[in-house]
Amino acid sequence: MSNRESLSAKLKQAFIELITNHTGLEIRERDQADLSEKIFARMKALNLDIAENYYQLLAFSPIDGHLEWQNLMTQLTNTDSYFFRDRGQLNVLRNQIFPEIIQRKQNNKRIRICSAGCSTGEEPYSLAIILKEIIPALEQWDLMILGVDINQAALQKAKIGIYTPWSFRNNEPKTKQQYFKLIGSQYEIHQEISKMVKFEYLNLVKDSFPQPCSDLKELDLIVCRNVFIYLKESAITKVLNKFYQALQPLGYLLTGHAELFSQNLSLFHPKVFPETLVYQRQVNI
Ligand SMILES: C[S@@+](CC[C@H](N)C(=O)[O-])C[C@H]1O[C@@H](n2cnc3c(N)ncnc32)[C@H](O)[C@@H]1O
Repeated sequence: MSNRESLSAKLKQAFIELITNHTGLEIRERDQADLSEKIFARMKALNLDIAENYYQLLAFSPIDGHLEWQNLMTQLTNTDSYFFRDRGQLNVLRNQIFPEIIQRKQNNKRIRICSAGCSTGEEPYSLAIILKEIIPALEQWDLMILGVDINQAALQKAKIGIYTPWSFRNNEPKTKQQYFKLIGSQYEIHQEISKMVKFEYLNLVKDSFPQPCSDLKELDLIVCRNVFIYLKESAITKVLNKFYQALQPLGYLLTGHAELFSQNLSLFHPKVFPETLVYQRQVNI
C-alpha cells in the first residue's frame, strides 16, 4: 500500500504508463520526483489517502476519472507560450503560406486553421492578428481559427484573453498598443481579434479526429509547436496520422524546429524556406 509519504516504484511506474497511454506525455527520469509530488497534491485535494485508489479513479472511473484527468493535466503540462513566438516561422506564414492559401481559396473564401496545443491562446491569436492584417475585406471570408488543448485551465485563460507582459517577451510595443487594452498591469486582447478564434478541449492522442461533425477537419493549416517535444514517439506517430487525415490536400503542418526529427514523414511533402521547414499534405495519396 502507498500512502501520502511514499509511492512504491511499481505504482509509480503504473502511473507513468497510465499517463503516457492517456496523454502521450513522456515522463522522463528527471521528472519522476515531481510527478509523485503532483499525484500527492491531487490526492490531498480529493481527500484521498491511498495512492492505489487515486490510480483506480484515473484508470477505471469513466465520469469522475475524466474530470480528474482534467485536473491532473493542469499540473502535468507545460503551458509556456508567448505572442509571435517564432518570428521566422510567422514571417513565412505571413509572406508565403497564407498568401498562397488565400489565392487558392479566392473562390469559396473558406480557410480553416488549427493551433494544436494552443495553451493560453497566444499562438492562435498571433495567427489571427496576421490574417487580419493581410486579408482585405476579411468579413467576406469564412475563416475558422481553432485552438485546441488538453489543459482546461489554459483554455479558460485563452478565452478570457488577458495577458501579463511576459506573454509579449518577443514583441514590438506596437503589437500591444494596436491589439490590446491595458488593464492595470495586464493586457486584454481586442474583441476584433478574440472573436476570430475559438477554443475547444482536445486530447490529441486519445480523442479521434477528424470527425464528420467536428471542427477539426478539412484544415488548410495545422500549427503544432512545442507540443511534440513532450510526447513519446509512439504518440507522435498517432497524432501525425490524425493530422494528415484532418488536413485537406495541399494543407500545411507547421511544427517547432527539429520536433519531428526522427519521424517517418513520408505522407507529407517537405517545403524548405530559409527560416523554416513546413510539411504539406500531398494531393494524390
Ligand atoms: C508549451 S505549450 C505550447 C504552446 C504553443 N503551441 C506555443 O508554442 O507557444 C504545450 C501545450 O501542449 C498541450 N498538450 C500536451 N499534450 C497534449 C495532448 N495530448 N493533447 C492536447 N494538447 C496537449 C499542453 O497542455 C500545453 O498547453
